[in-house]
Amino acid sequence: MTEAIAAQDSVEPGDTEDRTVSFTQMKDGTREEYLLLQRYEAAHHTDTAERLLREMRLQAEETIPGYQITRLEHALQSATRAHREGAGLDWVVATLLHDIGDGLAPQNHDRFAAEILRPFVRDEVTWVVERHGAFQMVYYAHHYGWDQYEREKYRDNPYYQTCVDFCERWDQSSFDPAYESEPLAFFEPMVREVFLRKAYDEAVLQTGVVKGLAA
Ligand SMILES: [Fe+2]
Ligand SMILES: [Fe+2]
Repeated sequence: MTEAIAAQDSVEPGDTEDRTVSFTQMKDGTREEYLLLQRYEAAHHTDTAERLLREMRLQAEETIPGYQITRLEHALQSATRAHREGAGLDWVVATLLHDIGDGLAPQNHDRFAAEILRPFVRDEVTWVVERHGAFQMVYYAHHYGWDQYEREKYRDNPYYQTCVDFCERWDQSSFDPAYESEPLAFFEPMVREVFLRKAYDEAVLQTGVVKGLAA
């Protein structure tokens, strides 16, 4: 097994030849085996956007009852508003995905989405997605007897106002069944572009830089 693996120089996406490691515990793996896995993993990374888009399509079927629109329609409407306001690529993609955790992490959906985005978009954008749940509470939490102003604990953060604006203009406003959103296909190339970026590239992250929704 090890020799056969060592003879392979590359594994391209779509390569159908089956090669597997022989170890049953990670600690027994050889260097050659880990090099093989590294090549498979690189191909796996390039397909991240496809897996995310698949989850978004599910949000049309597995939605939360009671709203006038599905979770996918909310995502499309939010992202369409961002796009029509001239927001940059990071914002449009992040807005599309901001509630992607509704299905798999309904108790911490904001942080779930932020971790997906964190390696690939501006730090400001990730921060906003991570906190949007708390910021959105200003619109409804009082009806449950909760603290409507949870967001105030972030008042001194440089990204505070950006999150206020995100919630007001693109998130809380996007539950309208009459709004004509772009279809998911419109956003697919944007999602692919963002998730093919080099992960954690500081030129992309721009940590600490405040640009607001326009950038
Ligand atoms: Fe949300
Ligand atoms: Fe939302």
